[in-house]
Amino acid sequence: PKLVVVTREGEESVLEAETGLSVMEVIRDAGIDELLALCGGCCSCATCHVFVDPAFNGLLPDMSDDENDLLDSSDHRDERSRLSCQLTMTDELDGLTVTIAPED
Ligand code: FES
Repeated sequence: PKLVVVTREGEESVLEAETGLSVMEVIRDAGIDELLALCGGCCSCATCHVFVDPAFNGLLPDMSDDENDLLDSSDHRDERSRLSCQLTMTDELDGLTVTIAPED
């Protein structure tokens, strides 16, 4: 599936994602280094915050309490906010578009 990533500067990249990897891993493996993902994907840092295109809302996994709490610690949370390490790429998510959230 394709994953479309928009950087903070508005630069768009279309990545070929491997299913089963998290959105965070796909972005990191592509060398887009502004997604810090400091904790390496264990849902404890919130530096992998992205805004997800609302068109994909119904297809995303539910948010855990941990993810919800971490997002609350961000000054930039809005209704599109997710932690990208908690989103696993599937074929259904082909074309998923995420924008990297501003740094806190
Ligand atoms: Fe740390 Fe996602 S990489 S919470």
